[in-house]
Amino acid sequence: MAGPSSPEFAAKLAKRMNIPLLAVTTTKFPDFETKYRFDEKLSGLEVFLVQSTYPPADTHYMELFLASHHLSQEGARVHAIIPYLGYARQGKAYLPGEIVSLGIIAHLLRSVGVNRVTTVDMHSAEGLALFSMPIYSVSAIPGLAKYVKESLRLTKPLVIAPDHGSQKRTDAFASLYGAESVHFTKKRDKITGRIKMETNKIQVKGRDAIIVDDVITTGGTIAAATELLRKYGAGRIVSACVHAVLLGETLDKLAKVGVDEIIGTNTVPSKVSKVDATEPLAAYLKTLAE
Ligand code: R5P
Repeated sequence: MAGPSSPEFAAKLAKRMNIPLLAVTTTKFPDFETKYRFDEKLSGLEVFLVQSTYPPADTHYMELFLASHHLSQEGARVHAIIPYLGYARQGKAYLPGEIVSLGIIAHLLRSVGVNRVTTVDMHSAEGLALFSMPIYSVSAIPGLAKYVKESLRLTKPLVIAPDHGSQKRTDAFASLYGAESVHFTKKRDKITGRIKMETNKIQVKGRDAIIVDDVITTGGTIAAATELLRKYGAGRIVSACVHAVLLGETLDKLAKVGVDEIIGTNTVPSKVSKVDATEPLAAYLKTLAE
């Protein structure tokens, strides 16, 4: 079933898996409430409910909750496919009194009848542990590495992890690409959100750079990494991310600080969504069916 946020993604996934799309009509009331009408018998079906929860995350989650509850009440098994899992960065409390919102999302998904969740490049492994039902995160990093290698002619690229959380993903990207990787250190002020980025001296003069991250939202992380790379004399700078959330003027802002190219996947529909994340998803889902 295509949830309202992901009609193209769901159609591609269904095509790759050679399974039909569920007949459902979705409309919005004038005040933006969601209304569904299901046009076929649901009892006994195993439904892949595809709904990415990019901004507005709260609306996209509500659409997912309504559909899942109905499917499960009617006797279908619900496997939620959430290509971009919103709230994934709220998997722990950083300051006293903060809510671990991802834990509540996990609880709500369970209570509306979701039996299983599959996502793409979940922000952290810690977040997966908050779910009481089976959850699995497939990786779009191989697809991104292949695309960047085959489509951009980069000179001796250095692959950059802009923060601690992106190191594993970055090292996987570098190894698939056949390039060296380095790790920058990011400190974010927990109140203002302001970023400070540091690195040991790096040899990037005459070389291109690829910054790898799971998500770009405001672009603050990529901008800070780019400023350091420019200071050390990097050539072309490419940003490869899985989830191109790209709020507001982020693309312009990154172009201004000197990012030459941004490559993302279609977990979030955007101008830079060049890599198809339905490929690793379909490969994983097929293994479950076997
Ligand atoms: C942080 O840990 C994430 O991996 C991203 O680096 C971060 O959330 C990106 O956000 P922004 O684009 O606003 O810096």
